[in-house]
Amino acid sequence: MSNFLELARVDNIAVITLASPPVNALGQALREAIGDALDEALADDQIDAIVLTGNEHIFSAGADIAEFAAGAATAEPTLPGLVLRLRASSKPTIAALSGDAFGGGLELALGCHYRLARENLRLGLPEVHLGILPGAGGTQLLPRITGIEAALDMILTGREVSSTEALDMGIIDELLPTENFCGAACEFASKVAAERKPAPDLNDPADASGLGSDFFETCKTSIKKKSRGQLAPFKIIDCVKAAAELPLSEGLAIENGAILECLASPQASALQHLFFAERAAKKVKGVEKDTPRRSVQRVAIIGSGTMGGGIAMAFANAGYPVTILDLDGGALERGLQAIKANYAISVKRGRFSEEQVQAFLSKITTTTSYDDLKNTDLVIEAVFENMDVKKTVLRTLDKVCKSGAILATNTSTLDVNEIAAETSRPQDVIGLHFFSPANIMKLLEIVRGDKTAADVLATCVELASSVGKIPVVVGVCYGFVGNRMLAPYTREANRLIIEGASPEQIDKVLTDFGFAMGPISMIDLAGIDVNCKVREGLSEREMPDPSTTALERKLFALGRCGQKSSRGFYLYDGRNKAPDPEVIEFAKEIAAEHSINRREISDREILERCLYPLINEGIAVLEEGIAARSGDIDVVYVNGYGFPKWRGGPMYYADEVGHEAVLEALARYRRELGDYGKRYFGPASTFEWLAG
Ligand code: CAA
Repeated sequence: MSNFLELARVDNIAVITLASPPVNALGQALREAIGDALDEALADDQIDAIVLTGNEHIFSAGADIAEFAAGAATAEPTLPGLVLRLRASSKPTIAALSGDAFGGGLELALGCHYRLARENLRLGLPEVHLGILPGAGGTQLLPRITGIEAALDMILTGREVSSTEALDMGIIDELLPTENFCGAACEFASKVAAERKPAPDLNDPADASGLGSDFFETCKTSIKKKSRGQLAPFKIIDCVKAAAELPLSEGLAIENGAILECLASPQASALQHLFFAERAAKKVKGVEKDTPRRSVQRVAIIGSGTMGGGIAMAFANAGYPVTILDLDGGALERGLQAIKANYAISVKRGRFSEEQVQAFLSKITTTTSYDDLKNTDLVIEAVFENMDVKKTVLRTLDKVCKSGAILATNTSTLDVNEIAAETSRPQDVIGLHFFSPANIMKLLEIVRGDKTAADVLATCVELASSVGKIPVVVGVCYGFVGNRMLAPYTREANRLIIEGASPEQIDKVLTDFGFAMGPISMIDLAGIDVNCKVREGLSEREMPDPSTTALERKLFALGRCGQKSSRGFYLYDGRNKAPDPEVIEFAKEIAAEHSINRREISDREILERCLYPLINEGIAVLEEGIAARSGDIDVVYVNGYGFPKWRGGPMYYADEVGHEAVLEALARYRRELGDYGKRYFGPASTFEWLAG
């Protein structure tokens, strides 16, 4: 009857089946079709109850996110309006969750009088990740159904629950078998219609009797640090508080005001940009839907250090058998112990159960012999970041691995083409740049060599998702996208100390901006020694201005490598850090050596000088085709470098600030910073064109 759903009659039951691919997003057309189908079913005297269902994969992924930017989300019939109609229906309404239900999809179900589901489905209200809140009754109905604490946890974290957990929480009334699911749902509907039981009454406020009077204020305090700068989490708490205090209609009015405020906020637009950017990043030039995929059943990791261990855990956690190879048996044993220790921490923190960890560990084997890699489908080398060492490993892999095996290098900077050229099969070689800790960090830069085959690329992009990573395909250059753009960021942070800023001031400016960690603390954490050693491999032309590396070199020479040696830019007691006046004395000496006038530096200058050269490098990265889209860069930065998600990533931020303003600031620093400014503050060649 409509392009968006089917309305069928099964005896005395109307079955509305959402059929709007790919995910039954509740755009205006589908909403209108649901409204029409409801009208028809309610007007039909032969119909006693209404079942709303979807397909076996998806019930509905919620509101159509693309409509938010277009302003069409509030077009009639609205989603909250439909939820109210389902609730107010004179005939029983039953949501039959045949597939996953998210956001407004779950809210439609909450609007129904009863909810049925198959086993092994995912349900969730993930709106907080989009900078908004469940605005179709979710913040009011869920607390009344599950209790306040469980609802608040689910809405604030946006976490998914399984249909079994949802049954325990009271969200689902009954789990039905997959076989003849719809038939069983109709039987249920017939039964409740025959019983003429009144629909559950949810008009009164949710029960708050067990909660202290300061419960909601305490909640706000507890999320203050994690949700710094964000609007939606705090609005969610306000809405759930309303659910605890007000009748449904008044709570819904508060929810409506709150979602409109969130929708109008720049953060919501930024987070929605990232939602689509992440999905766009998986669309790779030269890789089609029908590009064949190679079968990956067995994985091997070369190197049992921190990186190798983390990568092995990522694959084991996703169910892949993994072999870790290290020629040094002692190192291999230490690596395995480190993996076990990491898992033990996960159990302690409640991330995994003991049984899960045992299952993961059973997937991991170790070897000191390349002969054991003969049947491996994917080998990832994670040895020391040195071209000669990596070349040796790849030459060996070329000799022992079976034909068609994917040979990956986990380099963070090196030339993948040069590494691939060591083998007789460069088409099978690819870069897989994991971020540390590799079992936790979501980002995976997939480095496409000149000769990397399309099916290798397609396989790795898909594989990334299957091990819970967010893939971004990048081209070959020093540092790829992420580390290449990081270089100007950390360079300026270093130079600003010499010019007069303190490490604490610099870190505070960037954490106030929303970064998880400031640049100086980040260097201390990663290790000053690492930076110094990486620079040893640079040619004279690539070497940064000595004034920007002098402080790190000085600290390194004194054995101050950062957090791991308890002294770096800061002094450490465990993870607690304190400023070190000696570092300022070093900075003064270096400034004198390089004839740099020390002065007071404004917070604005710190922000602009750290971020704008990073953005400028991002534009160069796009010009050179190292990244395919500016959204890809944003995905890299928010998932790999702690850039605040709610600012949309550096390239989105540049759009918000305006390219002209960024250019103007670059020009100002080019003028004001003498030869240093001339060297580093020239705009990338297309920047002026972009600024129009
Ligand atoms: N709106 C618009 N498009 C959506 C969408 C949505 N809610 N959910 C998914 N899509 C699109 C994706 O952009 C993608 O499009 P392309 O093929 O053009 O790239 C396509 O559907 C398939 O999506 P995925 O690639 O993500 O497919 P998947 O199988 O990996 O994941 C999913 C499926 C788990 C449903 C995932 O798409 C998802 O998490 N979707 C968003 C869920 C969500 O956040 N819902 C809340 C919406 S806001 C809301 O509902 C507000 C409210 O209260 C009124």
